[in-house]
Amino acid sequence: MTNDTILEPLPEDQWFIESQELRAFVATVREITDSASENRTQQLAKLEPYFQELLAQQQWLPEKFAQVNPESKMGGGIGQWLLYRAKDRSLSVFSLVIPPGSTTPVHDHLAWGLIGLYKGNQEETVYRRVDSGNAAEHAHLEITEVRSLQRGDIYRLLPPDGDIHAVKTTSESESVSIHLLGNDTGCIWRHQFIPESHSVKSFRSGYSNAPCKEEEEKQHAKV
Ligand SMILES: [Fe+2]
Repeated sequence: MTNDTILEPLPEDQWFIESQELRAFVATVREITDSASENRTQQLAKLEPYFQELLAQQQWLPEKFAQVNPESKMGGGIGQWLLYRAKDRSLSVFSLVIPPGSTTPVHDHLAWGLIGLYKGNQEETVYRRVDSGNAAEHAHLEITEVRSLQRGDIYRLLPPDGDIHAVKTTSESESVSIHLLGNDTGCIWRHQFIPESHSVKSFRSGYSNAPCKEEEEKQHAKV
């Protein structure tokens, strides 16, 4: 199983919503993550207050991007709505909408990230892989943490730390979390785990509103 996904660069940066708040945030992300003098941990710590500010503003995310998606490839009606993607696919921002009672599969992301809760409540179960990764389709995970998340809470992904998790909505209405990731998360091949049977398989979640390849985008435009 390979972790490498070759994706063609896009012709330009893609914005799926019109929002000054999001544009300003992405510009700040670029500025901070381009700094060569700080490591990723320091950069994410510096970014967090800006992310907190974005999460605190409740008017910039259009309703359409805060809705569940019955045709979800993740299953469970989970909507994964792409909001922004860099043309070199080194950065993406998306919302993840999980219906009440639904849980994501246990999955990884394979990139640094900041995730924050915008609406509802969630329970996050964080895992750590404890096998060597050498046996095909086999993975042994241990739970490292179970966290209750409220609106405005933020957590970091710094692989391998925090990179494998499952998220469940615990509020009576859907939860919406905003994801800032250092890759094109929906389009890369990553991993889905079944901890009970110690198994792992390749997984590509896609996005609810955007294709992964340029040819698909042309197709999409014709429809
Ligand atoms: Fe995730």
